[in-house]
Amino acid sequence: MHRNRERSSALIEFIDTWRASIATELCFGRSREGRRRNLSIYQRCSQIGWGDEGGGVSTRERADRILRKILPRLVPNPVHAYYAEPSLVFSSEDDRAQPSETLISLALEAARVSKGIALDDLDARWSKTGPPNKRHPYLRPSCWPGEHYRLLAGLTVAVQPQLVVEIGTGGGLSALAIKKVLPIGSRIATFDVVGWQAGRSFNVLTGSDFEDGSLVQYLADLSKQEEFYEHLSILQRASMIFVDGPKDGIFEQRLLDNMRSASFDTKPMILILDDIRLWNMLGIWRKVSFPKLDLTSFGHWSGTGLIEWG
Ligand SMILES: C[S@@+](CC[C@H](N)C(=O)[O-])C[C@H]1O[C@@H](n2cnc3c(N)ncnc32)[C@H](O)[C@@H]1O
Repeated sequence: MHRNRERSSALIEFIDTWRASIATELCFGRSREGRRRNLSIYQRCSQIGWGDEGGGVSTRERADRILRKILPRLVPNPVHAYYAEPSLVFSSEDDRAQPSETLISLALEAARVSKGIALDDLDARWSKTGPPNKRHPYLRPSCWPGEHYRLLAGLTVAVQPQLVVEIGTGGGLSALAIKKVLPIGSRIATFDVVGWQAGRSFNVLTGSDFEDGSLVQYLADLSKQEEFYEHLSILQRASMIFVDGPKDGIFEQRLLDNMRSASFDTKPMILILDDIRLWNMLGIWRKVSFPKLDLTSFGHWSGTGLIEWG
């Protein structure tokens, strides 16, 4: 049973990655990143007894190799960037969810404030730990627009939340950007499935960041219904929720579905969805039916979406 579930999630992951890497190659030529991700999916499939059992080349891999040779020759490469991800542009006027007055005013105020926010301290912390891998050789948290950390701080100033919930602590950059401008007496509850003390190479948090009690980490997977309902009372008190999880095409949709099944009375409740322009996130963003605004030009290059929840 467990093995079957693992197999079907590996299949979904494989199809998504394969589709994404084909699109990457259509847009950007043969990408090292696409090849790396495909390789890791093949490795995962073989770990769970999928694909080529005999150590040779599977039919899927052969078909994939052929496509990879053909596609870049058919479509010229229009952009060269160190880190590229496949995406799609599409009309927005036929999206049933349009931005509200509240969202537009908050976004304008947040962008105005972000312009004056300095995050040199985060740059310094980041440069000490070093980038997690070669994908981010140029990452500087204070880069704005392009990175979203100054916008997150700007939104915190604009929303003035008593409680911020973050989903996806990661190395802690976003939590610290928000904490820096948090109103006195306000708190951040940050969720992850990995503890901040797990020893990740890209961690920037230290014990002293938690000393005043305004930053608390919870270990939970909020896409799972039982864990979501266990922590629902925390989410219900938040007026700003920042979702920066795995973007695997599954987690974020389940989280939003869980949220839709509950009631949120805080008004306005602003949900910030990271990476909305990534292939896996396009459909999830499009399906959001509450007032929403794509704020990518003032946020993260991979997409920043604002939702007025409820
Ligand atoms: C992109 S990182 C977050 C980066 C962080 N917000 C920042 O800007 O510094 C994504 C995080 O999501 C976490 N994650 C993965 N699956 C998760 C899940 N099911 N629930 C919560 N967090 C998850 C990963 O462990 C990882 O730390």
